[in-house]
Amino acid sequence: MLRPYNKQALCTLPRWRYIPAPASRFTTQTDTIRHRALWMTKRSGRVGAGVAIALSIAFPAAAQTGQSAPGYKAPVISDTGRLKGPRQPIFFRHDIHAGQDQIPCLYCHSTVTISSEPGIPAVQTCFGCHQIVTGGKRPFGGTVSAAQDSTARAAEAAEVRKVQAAWFGKKPPEWIRIHGVPGFVHFPHQRHIKVLGTDGCITCHGDVRTMPQVYQVATLKMGWCVNCHVQRNVSRDCTLCHY
Ligand code: HEC
Ligand code: HEC
Ligand code: HEC
Ligand code: HEC
Ligand code: HEC
Repeated sequence: MLRPYNKQALCTLPRWRYIPAPASRFTTQTDTIRHRALWMTKRSGRVGAGVAIALSIAFPAAAQTGQSAPGYKAPVISDTGRLKGPRQPIFFRHDIHAGQDQIPCLYCHSTVTISSEPGIPAVQTCFGCHQIVTGGKRPFGGTVSAAQDSTARAAEAAEVRKVQAAWFGKKPPEWIRIHGVPGFVHFPHQRHIKVLGTDGCITCHGDVRTMPQVYQVATLKMGWCVNCHVQRNVSRDCTLCHY
């Protein structure tokens, strides 16, 4: 099961604990990648163990208390057409990365505590793991028949090949933006995270860790913003949100 957000220490880990993620979604430098691959393979004889180490370092709460990782297992999705939210160019699953593998939100959305924009990770960040992780090897949640099992593994590995192709072809995936407020509205993420803390993402985005495909949960309408500001005694000045 998933730990509560605050126990999981998502979103509040000190930045130095991360292998640095690049700021732009379109960078293609190779230095960080080589460094990371080296770092991962140096510390382990086996490639699989290297990933486990990378993940536990990115996730110190579990490592420090010596607890084994909670056993949330993302299910096999056989009918992707029924998922909420827009279909992305690569079927990137938050329930696998942030849920099952517990990669902290900030590993990928690295600027959410310091900027109004959380940032979407560059392919470089993906490829740092996916030059080694070929996909289709994780334990599945739920009941899965033998036939379903091999189809699902092949499908996940095929999606990972798209990540590798994006890297080698220098063609970053064009992620479809899901959340957005109009241009005349000012929304600073960092100010909200500072106050709402580790439960912050959940408050506005729902539990992304269990979403195979991200969809919008809150209305993002003015009434929604103002309601929370009223509840929390934050200013409702028109100029706070409107330039
Ligand atoms: C391994 C990298 C990675 C991790 C970890 C990750 N994300 Fe994401 N996130 C992405 C990518 C890539 C996208 C764009 C594609 C998509 O929407 O699925 C995205 C999209 C999103 C979106 C939708 C953005 C939009 O377009 O409006 C939200 C909200 C989000 N992530 C929240 C979270 C939260 C909360 C966590 C932690 C529980 C998290 N993410 C962990 C990579 C990641
Ligand atoms: C910290 C390591 C790590 C990072 C960073 C990472 N992944 Fe993954 N990814 C994994 C692991 C582990 C799996 C499960 C592998 C398995 O099944 O063998 C996985 C599985 C996948 C899969 C197959 C399952 C699915 O989600 O549909 C895709 C596609 C994928 N990743 C895309 C991405 C993309 C795109 C990014 C960058 C936004 C990314 N990954 C970043 C570790 C990572
Ligand atoms: C108070 C509500 C609130 C909280 C808390 C919050 N978000 Fe958001 N998020 C929003 C709104 C509103 C937008 C649309 C912003 C815009 O259009 O500028 C958004 C957009 C995003 C996007 C898309 C940005 C892009 O450039 O495509 C991502 C990714 C995201 N949030 C991740 C996170 C993560 C990760 C956390 C927790 C660390 C978080 N958010 C916490 C309200 C929130
Ligand atoms: C879940 C509660 C919540 C929601 C929803 C929310 N806010 Fe806030 N907002 C806060 C809190 C708490 C603060 C006070 C932050 C501080 O004291 O620094 C804040 C502060 C702000 C600030 C002031 C930042 C500064 O520089 O002083 C702006 C602007 C803002 N919010 C815009 C928005 C907009 C626009 C939306 C809707 C898209 C929104 N907020 C939705 C809780 C919320
Ligand atoms: C906490 C943030 C916040 C505050 C404070 C706020 N607004 Fe807004 N406002 C929004 C957001 C977000 C939208 C865009 C979403 C929507 O249309 O509801 C918006 C949209 C609007 C619109 C366009 C509505 C439409 O239907 O297109 C007007 C006009 C407006 N606001 C006026 C005001 C006035 C006047 C005040 C002061 C009394 C104010 N707002 C205070 C967040 C805020």
